[in-house]
Amino acid sequence: MQMDDYKINLPEAEMPQEWYNIQPDLPRPLPPYLHPATGQPVGPQDLAPIFPMELIQQEVSQERYIPIPDEVQRLYRLWRPTPLRRARRLETALKTPARIYYKDESVSPAGSHKPNTAVAQAYYNKVAGIKRLATETGAGQWGSALALACNFFGLECTVYMVKVSYHQKPYRRSLMHIWGADVYPSPTDRTQAGRAILAKMPDTPGSLGMAISEAVEDAATHPDTNYSLGSVLNHVMLHQTIVGLETQKQLKLAGEKPDVLIGCVGGGSNFAGFCFPFVPEKLKGRELKIIAVEPAACPTLTKGAYTYDFGDTAGLTPLIMMHTLGHSFVPPGIHAGGLRYHGDAPLLCLLVHEKVIEARAYAQNPVFEAARLFAQNEGIVPAPETAHALKAAVDEAVRCRETGEAKVIVLNFSGHGHFDLAAYDAFLEGKLQDIETDPEEMIKKALEDLPRFPK
Ligand SMILES: Cc1ncc(COP(=O)(O)O)c(C=O)c1O
Repeated sequence: MQMDDYKINLPEAEMPQEWYNIQPDLPRPLPPYLHPATGQPVGPQDLAPIFPMELIQQEVSQERYIPIPDEVQRLYRLWRPTPLRRARRLETALKTPARIYYKDESVSPAGSHKPNTAVAQAYYNKVAGIKRLATETGAGQWGSALALACNFFGLECTVYMVKVSYHQKPYRRSLMHIWGADVYPSPTDRTQAGRAILAKMPDTPGSLGMAISEAVEDAATHPDTNYSLGSVLNHVMLHQTIVGLETQKQLKLAGEKPDVLIGCVGGGSNFAGFCFPFVPEKLKGRELKIIAVEPAACPTLTKGAYTYDFGDTAGLTPLIMMHTLGHSFVPPGIHAGGLRYHGDAPLLCLLVHEKVIEARAYAQNPVFEAARLFAQNEGIVPAPETAHALKAAVDEAVRCRETGEAKVIVLNFSGHGHFDLAAYDAFLEGKLQDIETDPEEMIKKALEDLPRFPK
């Protein structure tokens, strides 16, 4: 163990060798994915055209622990275990008695938590004999993580990047090109789904839902190609639990027990991976506040309906029981591109619905304000997505200042913002708009498109 005032490092030998699967510990079973044509639960054969069988099995597994393959562990060790840092200078700046820790996933080669599942998914696809992976990306974090992983395993990689992010974040694109991926601004005219969307909305900024439709279609129409998703699905949450499992060991080394866990939510993967290993304790009655943070412009958990919906815009995916703003909802082009998704991970939604996890939403400017405060005190510039978690942590720490409670606040620092500096410039120049999506009209309209069965 190496411990100092600012960080708690876990020795490599202590890196977890199994992922944690929350499914057997849920308060009630997860509703199955449904086939959009029949309304019946989908079986492995329905998913086989776009996913390798190992990942399909992980999707429904009831095993509590699933071994991490040696080759995946070897690649993880390029950057894992990641440090758990104590934000002492931020604590001082906030004059709070709270102790704030952050799990620093920004140290991965792509700069976020995303390679934790990218490497695992590329590995299982490679073993299954697949030649190419197709995917979508919002902010470009996921696309770059998958490009990196495909590069490690000698797979080709095609990335459909949400158009607004393609233009906002050109250097994420460069990163994907360095790692050998092909990148297209979505919607494109390369797929039927893309062409249909462009015909209806030629000036659309794009959305994750649209890009997913394109990547799924690409995979489904090419036998040597599979689809890879960077969030939402159960196997993605599973791979990310390495984050929370390491955090548990590090908190133990520090002699701390968390009172508050915080993460930002786009599709839910960094949040789930970070907090799921702690959920069984909470279900057994331990006092623990778990906060999921989303943008006010895309308030899926706080204002969406909990119902079956498609994971994509064109309606190519199975129906998923989740909080949703409706699959035709196009979130405004805010700078936290990775949080612009109409739905969320079904595992996370079930726990929010059961009130095990609470959700809150923030507008952009207060989020960037918290990010600047963090950068000025801790040095690291957070990704705009991560900054949402920071805003909630700052609010919790300020509450502790008011009540005098010395709570232990732990957040997942999902990524750095080195490729998001244009967003910071916009913030510093006062050009960021605080878009609060009023669900009443917009969401009601999107929800009208929901499939009608079953309730
Ligand atoms: C740094 C960062 N954090 C969070 C997210 C949100 O995704 P998820 O909710 O799956 O962790 C993204 C997505 O691109 C991201 O890049």
